[in-house]
Amino acid sequence: MWAVSLTEDQEKVDQQTLKEAVAAAALERVAALSNDRLALGIGTGSTAECFIRLLPALSGRIQVTVSSSERSEALLAELGLPVADLNAVGSLDAYIDGADETNKQLQLIKGGGAALTREKIVAAAADVFICIADVSKRVEVLGAFPLPVEVIPMARSYVARELVKLGGEPVWREGVVTDNGNVILDVHGLVIDRPVELEGQINQITGVVCNGLFARRPADCVLLGTPDGVETLVSN
Ligand code: A5P
Repeated sequence: MWAVSLTEDQEKVDQQTLKEAVAAAALERVAALSNDRLALGIGTGSTAECFIRLLPALSGRIQVTVSSSERSEALLAELGLPVADLNAVGSLDAYIDGADETNKQLQLIKGGGAALTREKIVAAAADVFICIADVSKRVEVLGAFPLPVEVIPMARSYVARELVKLGGEPVWREGVVTDNGNVILDVHGLVIDRPVELEGQINQITGVVCNGLFARRPADCVLLGTPDGVETLVSN
């Protein structure tokens, strides 16, 4: 039996195919929403970008989009989709975004693209949070992906010391400034078996703006791209 090894380029292509499949599944779910006119929250990252590129197919029904980053906003505008500030819009019908990790409870780690705070705000304002990801993001226990924490710049060292007390190894994502003008600490080495508690604990540290655990407000539905098709996980 020959061992088949994929080149790095082939692996990337396969992962891209999975991302496109979940983006298409999310578009179907959004199209099935009962409202005639849709107000949609749109996330950030390569999977969210696949979804954005499909959105013009629904343009007749889209009243407005609210984006979680300047990057996604620019792409939405380029595709001719209406973009607004969240303050100018009521609640959103759905929020569609990727994730860096997801567990069985549909709790997530997000923020690999440094957009976590706006992502959490837009998710909070949405009736339904649809998460789209390829199967590499599924984990039993959250924490193998370093947890991003957005921090006010002058508090960086203090917050890092407090995160060490919680058992983490924070690493400053040097050179990255968020859309809100803050910095990111990526916390390695956490085994997150109580995500709701940890999300609250980290948010209590003075100087923390937000952390990338989406446990208090998990996804309502995760569409997971696998080589055998799209798996749909919904909250009970
Ligand atoms: C952006 O800050 C993140 O939360 C993204 O949703 C996450 O990093 C997933 O990105 P990809 O879809 O590019 O893997």
